[in-house]
Amino acid sequence: MKIAIGNDHAAVTMKNEIMKYVEELGHEVINFGTDTSDSCDYPEYGENVGRAVVSGEADFGILICGTGVGISISANKVNGVRAAVCSEPVTARLVRAHNDANIIAFGERIVGIEIAKEIVRVFLTTEFEGGRHQRRVDLMMEIERKNFSL
Ligand code: RB5
Repeated sequence: MKIAIGNDHAAVTMKNEIMKYVEELGHEVINFGTDTSDSCDYPEYGENVGRAVVSGEADFGILICGTGVGISISANKVNGVRAAVCSEPVTARLVRAHNDANIIAFGERIVGIEIAKEIVRVFLTTEFEGGRHQRRVDLMMEIERKNFSL
């Protein structure tokens, strides 16, 4: 599969290790993140990975910042993205199986590298279960189509 990865300055070290791991798992990685520790703004990386996933350039996305939160909120502003922040593998499995998440996010300041690798492995190997979960995913995406604004 093709995996888009993005990160800010707080997650360069973890991004590099996760890129290597994803390649070891047999996937192609497209790097949208920063490669330096110079302070930068995470929204652009979340947006770029979100666009890559929704356009089909990538099958799934991985986002890493200090907490995983800012970059995932940014990605979720792109229509069609379902990015989930996750700090352990059980949630990584359930966001694929139940929520059909297409991007996983975590924080270099929150999880260790071995937990992060396991989150990624589980996320990339779990199928969406469909059924009753499909209805709920459809309802989530319906909220997006309403394009609510004040
Ligand atoms: C950067 O200092 C930090 O705010 C960012 O990486 C992230 O944690 C935001 O959600």
